[in-house]
Amino acid sequence: MAIRDIIILPDTQLRLVSKPIEKITPEIRALADDMLETMYEAPGIGLAAIQIAQPLRLITMDVSKKEGEKDPRVFINPEIISSSEELSVYEEGCLSIPDYYEEVERPAKVRVRFMDIDGKVHEEDADGLYATCIQHEIDHLNGVLFVDYLSKLKRDRVMKKFTKAARLAAK
Ligand code: NI
Repeated sequence: MAIRDIIILPDTQLRLVSKPIEKITPEIRALADDMLETMYEAPGIGLAAIQIAQPLRLITMDVSKKEGEKDPRVFINPEIISSSEELSVYEEGCLSIPDYYEEVERPAKVRVRFMDIDGKVHEEDADGLYATCIQHEIDHLNGVLFVDYLSKLKRDRVMKKFTKAARLAAK
């Protein structure tokens, strides 16, 4: 296992649409292991493969509520198959947009279909933090970031801040 570099805004790779995984090869298993390690190290509760510059439909997550207990999860080719009309608001952040948090409104409950690391297909109902996190991560697979849900004013402000920071870092 290895910790990989997380790409951050305004890296244009974050806007790529990730490709479905056709076969769970040893490379995919190694990638999932690296993503979990990178996610825990960050620390974060969710990571999409594109955040380590791999445009594949692969997500890792841990939204366990119990302190000190780990629940590492891997989602391959995940899709939302239904969403509640009821909405909920969470303050979201993103490892690719460090130290920036804003409230985002999303469906409160979703049903998600995905493959696990052994290739088994599952359907699960998600609510609470799990629902928010899986929607946020699936957005990454489609090149969508949580700042896209904010007002243009707020989005422009955060884009400008990160573009400037990247320019300074490059000097
Ligand atoms: Ni994110």
